Amino acid sequence: MRHTVAESPTANTGAMDAWLQSRANVRERRGLTRRAGASGCEDAGTMLDLASNDYLGLSRDSRLTAAAVAAVEQFGSGARASRVVTGTLPAHEFLEEKLCTLTGAASALVFSSGYLANLGILGSLGGPGTLLILDAHVHASLLDAARLSRSPVVTVSHSDLEDVERALKSRSQPRAVVVVESLYSVLGDSANLMELAALCAMYDAWLLVDEAHGIGVAGSGRGAVHAAGLAGAPHVVVTATLSKALGAQGGAVLGSAALRDHLVNTARPFIFDTALAPASAAAAARAAQIIAAEPELATRLQDNAATLADLCGIGRSQGAVQSIPMATADDAVAAAARLRAAGVLVGCFRPPSVPDGVSRLRLTARADLTHGQMVHAARLIRAVLQEQPARNLEHGGMSRNGNNI
Ligand SMILES: Cc1ncc(COP(=O)(O)O)c(C=O)c1O
Repeated sequence: MRHTVAESPTANTGAMDAWLQSRANVRERRGLTRRAGASGCEDAGTMLDLASNDYLGLSRDSRLTAAAVAAVEQFGSGARASRVVTGTLPAHEFLEEKLCTLTGAASALVFSSGYLANLGILGSLGGPGTLLILDAHVHASLLDAARLSRSPVVTVSHSDLEDVERALKSRSQPRAVVVVESLYSVLGDSANLMELAALCAMYDAWLLVDEAHGIGVAGSGRGAVHAAGLAGAPHVVVTATLSKALGAQGGAVLGSAALRDHLVNTARPFIFDTALAPASAAAAARAAQIIAAEPELATRLQDNAATLADLCGIGRSQGAVQSIPMATADDAVAAAARLRAAGVLVGCFRPPSVPDGVSRLRLTARADLTHGQMVHAARLIRAVLQEQPARNLEHGGMSRNGNNI
């Protein structure tokens, strides 16, 4: 059938345009509009950045940038193909070796991002015969991974071991994976890994620990799994991002050699994705070496996090992330804007990026900031919080388990 331009299906976009506008209006009304501008870059020299995830300040470390430049010169600016075609480069193998040395894992497989590592592992372990037991606060990438895996999924209350045990005990599936984060990304609290691993061992299940906020931070930089004595444990799998404490880009799954082989053969985000760019692989490998050799980096980060939490008058978390719940999304936005005007960048997390629907300021300590800078930032944050109108906390909208607003 022939169409004129006016009546062609592609020209008839009125309904979609109207729908886009109506969604934008809802977001604006609720104070939940996100912007993806280049804010922060222009301020790099003058602003105190407590919003990024560059926990150890390695992303601008000259040893990482030199490694990245050398890799570009040696291997080119892109990997040119999937890892299973011709994309695997010595830079990837070197990185996998250095990640194992750092974390104590038997084997590592690098993906192009932490998000894809999570999609890869749950897609490969999941399916109708595998029950996925998800902590209610796990990251969106793990939720998406669970959905895509076509597995039966149970979400358990946050850090509730009894709930986990109930789900394990009553399952009908032959296999199960309990999915947690070692240090949670928004609230900054930690999982009880030893108890979880013991439960998984008791009920013949695997424990998947997302260490995106743990590696480089906990356990003298080697991660919370290592600190819990679980590195290399047969039923414990770790996913990592290379984009936070490691200051680069990419992700990894750490586990047994048999698991690595299974992923190479079955993980769609590994097989059907161009390999991680060589510059990122080389920078991350250099970061892994530095973190292993300089445990004082993680110590400095922990000291700065404690200073920040204490002076802001909030409970200390075990990681870099400190979280301040705010009454409303508008309050969070206003506080973050005031701090920005005063020279301090903080994260402003609102639904659907918060696991419990509560808007919050998210402060991240860094190893490369001085004690004086932490004190200065904390004083400003305290002052801004004291100016906030007193309101009861209200839930600002849907949690990230819900649909995007
Ligand atoms: C807990 C957690 N897992 C996974 C990811 C995804 O990592 P990446 O940014 O490397 O895709 C993030 C990043 O925000 C995260 O916080």
